[in-house]
Amino acid sequence: MAGDQSSHAPMEGGGFYNRNSAPQAAGIALLADIWLKACNAVPLGNEPVRIVDLASSQGRNSMAPMRIAIDVVRRRAGLDRTIEIVHVDLPSNDFSSLFNAVIDDQGSYLHDLSGVFPLAIGRSYFEPLLPPGSVHLAWNTWSMQWMSRSPMDAPDHVLAGMSRSEELLSALAAQQRDDWIRFLALRSTELRAGGRLLTAFTARTDAETGWEWLLGELWQAIRDLADQGVLSRAETERMTIPIGLRRLEDLAMPFGKQGEYSNLRIEHLELKQAGDPHWAEFQRTSDHLDFARRHAETTRAWAGPTLALGLDAHRSRKDALDAIFSRHAERLARDPRPHQPYMAVGVFAKSE
Ligand SMILES: C[S@@+](CC[C@H](N)C(=O)[O-])C[C@H]1O[C@@H](n2cnc3c(N)ncnc32)[C@H](O)[C@@H]1O
Repeated sequence: MAGDQSSHAPMEGGGFYNRNSAPQAAGIALLADIWLKACNAVPLGNEPVRIVDLASSQGRNSMAPMRIAIDVVRRRAGLDRTIEIVHVDLPSNDFSSLFNAVIDDQGSYLHDLSGVFPLAIGRSYFEPLLPPGSVHLAWNTWSMQWMSRSPMDAPDHVLAGMSRSEELLSALAAQQRDDWIRFLALRSTELRAGGRLLTAFTARTDAETGWEWLLGELWQAIRDLADQGVLSRAETERMTIPIGLRRLEDLAMPFGKQGEYSNLRIEHLELKQAGDPHWAEFQRTSDHLDFARRHAETTRAWAGPTLALGLDAHRSRKDALDAIFSRHAERLARDPRPHQPYMAVGVFAKSE
């Protein structure tokens, strides 16, 4: 999957990610107070307010944070203040599910409101997205672990950042440094003076990635299928998810001792551990198979389309993904554990 362009696919379409992303929503719920503070801190004049949702996917997990921002802005600036919500994702994202969710979802931020205008942009956020100085608030969750491009395939793991290849890990660290400073510089240009960017995504400690069990079993499931001759060795090697896991120090690095980079100041930087709603359900039901199926479906929702990019051209995508994720579920059911990934949370303020 190495190449110059984005080397990963969006989330599983047809609304599948919306239906299978409860763990990501559980992480987002931990951000409410931090986001509320950022929304209260951004300077507001008389202008329409622009809020950007970077990496919206199919939208469901963005509803609550967008509603928080709208409520704070309206409380501060008046109930008739015009607000734009700009959802951004890759061009191949399932934008139909996003637009339907904004209109129909019970929890949509549009409920009972007028003067709030949803818009969407299909473009990578590693490119300029909006006019300079035009964004009040930028929200971004569970995406910045994806690299803009894959430096190389991993021969020994399904997740690039969990490989043991020194060559791969150093290429990946360089790519992630470039991606991080590019993302910060672009967002800084787009923010208004005093605007805030919140970004939260999966990260690691020195000792562990937090994905050892869930993705270790996914890699073993893929190897099982290769041993049985269902997948070829070349396919398993191409199945590299271009994700790396940074430490908090990696994120702080561009800001140096002064805590400033590209007119952005670190306002908050923290590593949290997300809860596991599937584990909470398992505690209630003791149903191993249901627990394993939920985790396998959640994993398929974010990783399936990218794994499918590694398949030989003649292969049925659906059959191969069914085989991989039913094997994954079988393995997870043998030894259920809570999956509680680490989440880096950063809030950055544009200088005034
Ligand atoms: C796991 S989903 C997160 C969706 C949602 N923000 C949430 O927290 O549930 C990751 C999203 O990031 C998007 N994404 C990845 N790289 C991107 C890029 N370079 N530009 C825009 N979106 C990107 C993917 O297409 C996908 O929709």
